[in-house]
Amino acid sequence: MVEGRQPLRSLRNAPRKFDWPALRADLKGAVPDATLALVATAAIFLWLVVRVENGTSGTTQLMPMMSDWDNWTYWLCQAFGWSGLLWAYITVILGLLRSGRQPRWRWFRGATVERLHRTTSLTTIGLMFMHALVFFVDKVQANREQYAGAERFFKTFTHIWVPGTYPSGTGRVAIFVGLIAFYLAIPLGLAFYLRHRTGSRVWLALHRFIIVVYALSVWHTLLYGTNVWYDGSFRDLVWALQLPIAGLLLFRLLAPARPAERLRSRRASGSAPVYAVGAWVAGRLSVVLIMVGLLAVMISGVDGGRPQEGHGSHELWPERWVIWASLVLFVVAIVVTARRQRSVRTRGTKSSTQAAKPSANRGETAAPSVDEADGS
Ligand code: HEM
Repeated sequence: MVEGRQPLRSLRNAPRKFDWPALRADLKGAVPDATLALVATAAIFLWLVVRVENGTSGTTQLMPMMSDWDNWTYWLCQAFGWSGLLWAYITVILGLLRSGRQPRWRWFRGATVERLHRTTSLTTIGLMFMHALVFFVDKVQANREQYAGAERFFKTFTHIWVPGTYPSGTGRVAIFVGLIAFYLAIPLGLAFYLRHRTGSRVWLALHRFIIVVYALSVWHTLLYGTNVWYDGSFRDLVWALQLPIAGLLLFRLLAPARPAERLRSRRASGSAPVYAVGAWVAGRLSVVLIMVGLLAVMISGVDGGRPQEGHGSHELWPERWVIWASLVLFVVAIVVTARRQRSVRTRGTKSSTQAAKPSANRGETAAPSVDEADGS
């Protein structure tokens, strides 16, 4: 999400807390695309039903007992999963288009792309929530015989909503990964509405980590989705669709919209020490390697799908402690980044206050700090 420039007056009067008015406006703006998302979910649901009916569903090939109509909540959960992934895809593309150097196409208006990015990202969080909620409802029903009364509710609640507690099968890793993606999407996506408190440098730095949420969602899908469980063209398509995202990410990193992020201008201003140049190169190189990996998967057809015969049981990887450890490292990286950006902001504010003092004495208006004024 990228904030547009704001008039000085509105910045001075800006609330120092959560920006409810902006969230309310974006929620209102999200109504059309949320409606479209629900229509898409309904269409996917029908498609899944047809596949169950005509015997082509991967879900019922793997779990024949799922073909009963009683399991419609499970199919609805899957449908919300697919619409959630589709909207995540769309919003990531819009975000990358907005934060990379803007094309000079007549129809391409940065402000429109930004608005769409904000509304589709809210819709995505809603769809992710619905996906997990419907699964919870499904499991409460499915656990009828196993647990009684309140125990059924609390056990199921824990398994579905507490990361790392899902007790069986591939879900032990896949649901864990999905939940981490969902829980991270909330603060990293909504940080925008706290920008008056954190400063725009901090929220932008936080928001960049959101690409990990997308990667986790794709991982969750390819690991757990029974409709992409087996080798085949649909699974290949899901892999292939990740190539444009990786390409746009590379372009965004090589040609960022904000001049201050460009290596040339940072080196010219002396704010890019040698290690920063190393990190810059390593970051771009990793995206190139990901693209090479995606191409290799597409050309070789070896994409982690299970063979149709014997369902090809998979070694579950990684262990849950590896996911916990990675999550801790990730959160530490987020906190360190936020603190660094905050200290840059504080320094910037101090120096701009000092610079503003003489002019304030002359009765002129003090200039806002760089990050406040930039708002980009
Ligand atoms: C980041 C958010 C998530 C996204 C984008 C996502 C997306 C998906 C997709 C696309 C599928 C494939 C469905 C199919 O094969 O037809 C799926 C499967 C599934 N996901 Fe998620 N998911 C997310 C998080 C979660 C969470 C948090 C849970 C549980 C709490 C969950 C539970 C499931 C279940 C039960 C399935 C069905 C597996 C099957 O096909 O048998 N997902 N998800």
